[in-house]
Amino acid sequence: MKVLLISGSLRERSLNTALLKAAGELLGDKATCEWASIGEVPLYNQDLDGEEKPAAVTRLKAQIENADALLIASPEYNYGIPGVLKNAIDWVSRPAFKSVLAHKKTLLLSASMSDMGGVRAQGQLKQVLAGTLTPILPAPEFAVGSAQNKFTDGTLTDDDTRQKLQRLLNDFLAWV
Ligand code: FNR
Repeated sequence: MKVLLISGSLRERSLNTALLKAAGELLGDKATCEWASIGEVPLYNQDLDGEEKPAAVTRLKAQIENADALLIASPEYNYGIPGVLKNAIDWVSRPAFKSVLAHKKTLLLSASMSDMGGVRAQGQLKQVLAGTLTPILPAPEFAVGSAQNKFTDGTLTDDDTRQKLQRLLNDFLAWV
């Protein structure tokens, strides 16, 4: 199974990227993981969304198309989805209801420095991805709160979170 990892944070020491890295490790040999890079995707402009698209968009669309499933981990910025992630979703969301996102099974994760764990951004993501017909694993939100205390140098070191993530990934694999 091919899984595409999409982080909603561009920063190098991102906790969400670290969460995806942990998920990739926990998937082990049950999946081949590939990283998407949304940082190079330009700001959405429908004038540029013709037959020939910006290279980063074409690359991202191909990665999503080739994946069997998506894992998205995102921070919450001001109670919402980071602009970079929403921007990337908008680019790959066309043609409406027939895009590479349509029917692509997806697991949402979030990590944040607050106790809420970015759960509000996940709620918004669910709503946005409903608009692209992207099925989300039906499960309670997996939101890692106070994440700065659960990772050490980019590695998930909190055993409880690790065990819960493993269970969630098993459910995700079975669902996909
Ligand atoms: C934040 N942060 C944050 N956290 C949260 O739980 N709810 C929020 O609304 C916000 N808002 C917010 C806005 C902006 C602009 C920044 C930079 C940060 C804090 C956030 O949880 C923290 O910076 C995370 O570490 C960001 O995720 P990454 O980059 O570590 O993956």
